This record gives sequence, structure tokens and C-alpha cells, in this order.
Amino acid sequence: MPHSDFARKIAITGGAGFIGSNLLQHMVRKYPDCLFVNIDCLTYAGNLSNLVGLEQAGNYRFEKIDIRDNQALAACFEKYQFDALIHLAAESHVDRSITGPADFIETNIGGTFNLLEIIRRTTQDGSSFRLHHISTDEVFGSLGPKGYFTEKSAYRPNSPYSASKAASDLLVRSYHKTYGLDVVTTNCSNNYGPYQFPEKLIPLIINNARNGKPLPVYGDGKQIRDWLFVTDHCEAIDLVFHKGIAGETYCIGGHNEMENISIVRLICKLLTQRLGCQPLDRLIQFVTDRPGHDRRYAIDASYIKSQLGWEPRFTFETGIKMTLDWYLENQAWLENCVSGEYRKYYETTYSNR
Ligand SMILES: NC(=O)c1ccc[n+]([C@@H]2O[C@H](COP(=O)([O-])OP(=O)(O)OC[C@H]3O[C@@H](n4cnc5c(N)ncnc54)[C@H](O)[C@@H]3O)[C@@H](O)[C@H]2O)c1
Repeated sequence: MPHSDFARKIAITGGAGFIGSNLLQHMVRKYPDCLFVNIDCLTYAGNLSNLVGLEQAGNYRFEKIDIRDNQALAACFEKYQFDALIHLAAESHVDRSITGPADFIETNIGGTFNLLEIIRRTTQDGSSFRLHHISTDEVFGSLGPKGYFTEKSAYRPNSPYSASKAASDLLVRSYHKTYGLDVVTTNCSNNYGPYQFPEKLIPLIINNARNGKPLPVYGDGKQIRDWLFVTDHCEAIDLVFHKGIAGETYCIGGHNEMENISIVRLICKLLTQRLGCQPLDRLIQFVTDRPGHDRRYAIDASYIKSQLGWEPRFTFETGIKMTLDWYLENQAWLENCVSGEYRKYYETTYSNR
């Protein structure tokens, strides 16, 4: 079907990444009358095999474009005449932002700016255009043992990654206040689930444990994160994208506060049972802490619940078992990710610890 015949034409940046691909799997099937165009330049974290099954869907297209490339972006917007954008493309790994912040500034800030400018130009004729900007709770910095992040929390980013996301959030906000763009922003906690690149804590531990490799844990391992199963996150994005109020921000969390070390021990326990092997927690190795490592993140998600009726459906106990099953059943996917460039990065990063 020609793209002009669809009820709505929605661009999704970063659709080949972890959350973006889960979101596309959710949206493309749920909204067959809408066209979804995945704009992604396929960095090490982008993987088209995350989108298996969608290639044949009549309402899905892929455009290999770097959001830092203004001209290519403008041509793509001209081609599809989008009505909306869900913006997930970003450099997303805090450790990489410490060793090489430039890409984070260019993609997370510069790329977001390019998109905002194109939307501003597109909407000058009075047409409406919804932008949903996906952000993180890391923009709020670190919590003490008590309290929660809310939509009113001050921005106190501590890593180049969170600073670049904070800057992009503020740019998005300014384009709403200054130019009247129809924007919503969501700040979510740590996601986990299928298709997460195995440099992030949960898939890293699963992959190393199943291969009998050391399980690196930063510092004392008592950093707390509020874990959100990616499917719950996708449902929240769907709701905010369709029903969120322009100019509002929504915090999304899983009500699952866990210390990193408890997660590592739980994965070891579950995997030891599944594989029937020697206890895998013998592989845990405490390594030098990440500089500026935030101690605790936790989200009060009562605003999105009261306004839009969203609540997470998965407890951590259920979500982690589903995640573990998925990685065990998709070992070829894992092997593919950890070969090549990523293996080089991993070996240089972790060999000195
Ligand atoms: N994963 C989490 O726990 C989490 C938590 C809060 C917020 N977020 C945010 O959600 C979004 C998605 O996160 P993720 O975990 O899926 O990330 P990811 O690293 O798995 O995927 C990022 C995707 O963006 C693409 N990309 C990167 N730079 C690009 C560029 N210049 N042009 C075009 N595409 C580019 C990559 O190819 C990849 O497909 C990000 O904005 C991230 O900041 C993630």
C-alpha cells in the first residue's frame, strides 16, 4: 500500500535497538492501519535481527539513517510526510560515555536537535505533529536510601550519558514552550528483557555465566536500580504517545528495586538450576567501581497511574525467568552480538579489572 494511504505515518528512531525493537514488535501488529518507519543507523547496538517477522508486515519500513545527518533526515521526512515521531535513538551505555563521550553529545544532543528542527519546519504550516521523547531516570542523579524520583525532581545528571539525555530533554521542553510543538517526554527506569545488548548488566551476567566466564560486579554491588520489564515499558509508551498531555513528562518505573549484587546472585541461582552445574556464583568478581556511579534510582510512578491508568504487570521474579528463558533459547543471537567489534571493546574494557 502506498504510504499516503495509511491513517497515520509514525517514525520510530532507534527501532533496531533493545527498547525500540520491542516497541516496534508491539506497535506494528497492534496498529495495522498505521505505517511505522524505523530510522536507525545500526551502531554496534542496532540489530535488524531483533525485528524478525516484521520485514513482511505491510505497515513496516526500515530507513538506515544517522540522526546526525540532517540532510538524510530531511529527505526521509519529505518522503513519508510523518504525523508523529517516537524518538529512542541514542548512545545508551554509561560506561561507553565515560571512555568516549563525543558520540553521546553528537547523537543524543545533536541528533535530537536535528529532529526538533525538522519537526519545527514541518509544523510551520499549522499541521499537528506529536513527538514522544524517550528519556531516563538517570537525568535526576542519585537518591539516598529513601525517597523517589517524580516528574518534579530536579535534574542532576552525573555521567556524560545522563547529561546528554538531560540536555536533550531540556531541548525538547524548550521547543514546546517556545514553538508550541506537541511533545511528551517519558523518563523510565532500567529496562530488561529480550534483545538487550549483552554489555548491560542482566544479559552480560547471563551470557558470561553460561560460558563460565567471570561475572564483573562494580564496587560493593549494592547500587540499587528499579527494574522495568521491557513489555511493560512498551505499553506505557503506547499510552503516553496516544493519550499523554502535550508538554507533560511522565515517570515510568517497575516497582522493583533491587541491588545489583542480588540480581547477579539470583541469575546465578536460576541458571545453576537450569544447567545443573556447579554453583555459578563462584564466578562473581568485584571490580573497581564506575566513576561517578549513582547509588540508587527509584521511581514513583503514581502520576502515570492516576492520569493514564498504567501500572507494570510483571514482577521481577516473573520477568527475570522469562528473560533467562529467552536468552537460553536465543544463543545464536547472543553469539552474534558478542562477536566482532563488541568482543574487542569488551576485552579491552574488562581485561584490566
Ligand atoms: N535500556 C534502558 O534501560 C533505558 C532506560 C531509560 C531510558 N532509555 C532510553 O531509551 C532509548 C532506547 O534505549 P535502548 O536501551 O533500546 O538503547 P540501545 O543502545 O539498545 O539502542 C539504541 C539504538 O539507537 C540507534 N542509534 C544510535 N545512534 C544513532 C544515530 N546517530 N542515528 C540513528 N540511530 C542511532 C542504534 O543503532 C540502536 O539501534 C534511549 O534513548 C535510552 O536513552 C533506556
